[in-house]
Amino acid sequence: MEEARSSILLPGNKVKVIIIMIVSNQHKAPIFDVLLSHAKRNVISLHCPGHKNGRSIDRKLKEYTNEEVYKFDVTVFDEVDSLHDPVSSIKKSQELMAQAYGVKNSIFLVNGTSIGNMAMLLSACDSGDSVILSRNSHKSVIAGIILSGVWPIWIQPKIDQDLDLIFNSTYEQIKDSLDKYPETKAVFITSPTYNGIVTDLKKIIDLCHKRGKIVMVDEAHGGHLIFNKKLPISATSAGADLCVQSTHKVLSALSQGSVLHFNSNLLDFNKVKKIVSMLQTTSPNYLILASIDLARRQAFLYGEKKFNNIINIAEYARDYINKHIKQMQCFTRNTIKKLGFDLDVTKLTINVTKMGLSGYEIENILSNKYNIQLDYADMFNLIAILGEGTIKKDLEIFVRTLKDISKKYPGLQKNWTLKIPSLATEMVMKPREVFLSDKIKKISLKKAVGHVAAQVLTPYPPGIPIIIPGERITKEICEYLLEIASKKRVSGQESDMLSTIKIFAK
Ligand SMILES: Cc1ncc(COP(=O)(O)O)c(C=O)c1O
Repeated sequence: MEEARSSILLPGNKVKVIIIMIVSNQHKAPIFDVLLSHAKRNVISLHCPGHKNGRSIDRKLKEYTNEEVYKFDVTVFDEVDSLHDPVSSIKKSQELMAQAYGVKNSIFLVNGTSIGNMAMLLSACDSGDSVILSRNSHKSVIAGIILSGVWPIWIQPKIDQDLDLIFNSTYEQIKDSLDKYPETKAVFITSPTYNGIVTDLKKIIDLCHKRGKIVMVDEAHGGHLIFNKKLPISATSAGADLCVQSTHKVLSALSQGSVLHFNSNLLDFNKVKKIVSMLQTTSPNYLILASIDLARRQAFLYGEKKFNNIINIAEYARDYINKHIKQMQCFTRNTIKKLGFDLDVTKLTINVTKMGLSGYEIENILSNKYNIQLDYADMFNLIAILGEGTIKKDLEIFVRTLKDISKKYPGLQKNWTLKIPSLATEMVMKPREVFLSDKIKKISLKKAVGHVAAQVLTPYPPGIPIIIPGERITKEICEYLLEIASKKRVSGQESDMLSTIKIFAK
């Protein structure tokens, strides 16, 4: 139940406050309800998919899963509504989502935030427009740049070599960039980062809007922020024109379930809808749609309490590591605030450089020897992502295991000397032009300095491309690639060992 207050002025200037109780529909889950009632009808399926309500799903898969679940895997027909042209349950569920986030419209995505990022760039910009972005954007943003044909104006993200951490763009950096390139059509922000770093969104968005610029936010990691007052501001509350969230990353939707929020006076919603429709499959998975529907319901009704608990669990783990494991460190919200950013404390970044082992090596030890799988590791850090389903016991085991590892694996007993490289920002050619060009050749990575890259190379996760088409390859980047190539596969490498790179041949 929501409460609305309005006041009227009575004679003698007395104010009468009228309280109107508005029945909120947030407890409803229209997509799930329709699918459940469909599943219970046990209809004869003469539609796709071929497994026919789960009947022919392989026995081995069925042994491990509940057969009933496959009755939710249907195709588009009137009863279950259409994602591309919603008129009933999907329409209602998207309206509830928009209401929960306080935006004009929300569109469900069944291929993750990845296509949301592409859709935002394609909706907001025409080919040849320029867009200001932080160079540590996700690889799907680079895909959006290539597809849309925009000119990226990169902001070099601040790198803290003590914390081994890359930040997102600051207000000052975006203001400088807008002053320098006033013709820019839009600004694209990633917040929070993989590590949970949140930039000063409200101030940045207000500035951009004053200058008539469209603001898009990749909030893949921030779908939960709006549901708990202790967490940093979300892009929807800060006034972004477009924002995409992976409902599956921290909230409880199934993988691939994301949402694109529209809240703009500068853009046409119908255009956004058409572009999203061009990028989505015509056979959306209804289980994913139902899970987005229920994730919203759950977060709206119970998010405040749930995330109070998750915040406490995260702070317990952070505290334990900082007090009891001297070779590992977790930065705190205070540390990040002093550096001018905010932190979503539910993300746990654990710096392991004093172990003499890389983050990758410890990630492998955790997985192979202790049955603990992290979301991400790099040379310097481990990242644990907490979510709706996290319980304290998991974190108790995790921190005790880290302590055990710190004793059993003393590593090389020396600190790493490798540094996070500055990402290249010199764009020589438009990414789309190089991507589509046939003047491409392969050369040794060792000889690539100074050439124009013609390929995307992305250590994954976190999925930030270290090389993108059209940019000048720097010495620092070459050295970094050679170093990490010996430790981990890099997404985009075309042979077993990353020893060559594609460049634009003049
Ligand atoms: C910052 C960021 N943006 C976008 C994505 C892509 O999200 P999805 O996996 O939902 O496609 C990721 C994935 O890790 C990400 O970290």
